[in-house]
Amino acid sequence: MTAKQRLAVIFGGRSAEHEVSVTSARGVMREADTDRFEVIPVGITKRGAWLSEDETRERLAQVEAGERRDIGDDFGGGAFAYLEVLATLRSADVVFPIVHGTFGEDGTMQGLLEMADLPYVGPGVAASAVGMDKELMRAVFAAHQIPQAAYVVLRDDEVAAPTEAQLDAIGAAIGYPCFVKPANGGSSVGVTKARSREDIGDAIAEAGRFDRKVLVEAALEGQEVECAVLGHHDPKPSPLGEIAPSTEFYDYAAKYLDDTAALIVPARVDEKVAALVQDYAVRAFKALDCSGLSRVDFFVEPDGGVKCIEVNTLPGFTPISMYPRLWQEAGVSYSQLISRLVDFALERHAERRVAHA
Ligand SMILES: Nc1ncnc2c1ncn2[C@@H]1O[C@H](COP(=O)(O)OP(=O)(O)O)[C@@H](O)[C@H]1O
Ligand SMILES: [Mg+2]
Repeated sequence: MTAKQRLAVIFGGRSAEHEVSVTSARGVMREADTDRFEVIPVGITKRGAWLSEDETRERLAQVEAGERRDIGDDFGGGAFAYLEVLATLRSADVVFPIVHGTFGEDGTMQGLLEMADLPYVGPGVAASAVGMDKELMRAVFAAHQIPQAAYVVLRDDEVAAPTEAQLDAIGAAIGYPCFVKPANGGSSVGVTKARSREDIGDAIAEAGRFDRKVLVEAALEGQEVECAVLGHHDPKPSPLGEIAPSTEFYDYAAKYLDDTAALIVPARVDEKVAALVQDYAVRAFKALDCSGLSRVDFFVEPDGGVKCIEVNTLPGFTPISMYPRLWQEAGVSYSQLISRLVDFALERHAERRVAHA
């Protein structure tokens, strides 16, 4: 028998999605094919400390026992401060980084793994970085004729101290209601729906707490639908899922706190619309040069028009998250999905080695 592949799962991290990441990692550890993989957990605390395998396992056991939901908030000394962790990563055959948001989904983790010459699941540095910055993502969508909401970008002084004339100009360009969001964000943190000219100043100030760059977008109406894309050279779209939030929009509370949003699979859209969304999802995946996985989110408008909201390069990956659920709908189990993602990671790594030899 050949040796098992050592699969390092890096999870946790410094984002609002820390707990989701912990749940995703537990799912992967439980469901990864034990005939093929030996799974090694590598936790990152809420303040950026990397934990040894033993420490990670201890804290995971506490999560398992219901004693805690996160894996700690120890202060971090940067990725190179943990020699034991570096040794663990060096011994890995492949890495599944399931750290959402900043320092995980934004290309920084991917850059670290590239420099370490380790294969890893998910998109590379550029795709991850562009997927995290909504201004850059919108520019790529525009260059590839992927339809999206009208938007303007505010930066620096326009965010910190917008003049009345600037606020008037936003209303004239975009209209109300509109969505105001930090360019670099996730989990709907800092996102506000502004209903009128009275709301816009506060909405910009709220988004400005998280980034010096803020997007103001025309509010889309209709159904919010999502498509999971899987693959490398020839990525395939999943059936669609639909978000039916009980709140005004799919905000942070609906996503993580009260769990009130219903995920409807398959989405209630006709076949033609579904095919159109799937086509745009694959186009968006390729436009950003994604690899492995990404979840692409859309609105289907009342007139059947389709608009892309965003690409998530490391979507939630708990066993009940939308991404795995959509593949389950297509007949791919959670466990099979992990194996396929690792296959794509190895394929991409082998290609890059040849290209740079
Ligand atoms: N232009 C828009 N029109 C309507 N709803 C929107 C718009 N932009 C965002 N939303 C709502 O806000 C949520 C979060 O916005 P999104 O751009 O996906 O940010 P995040 O990266 O934080 O998930 C979306 O899931 C959707 O419910
Ligand atoms: Mg989103």
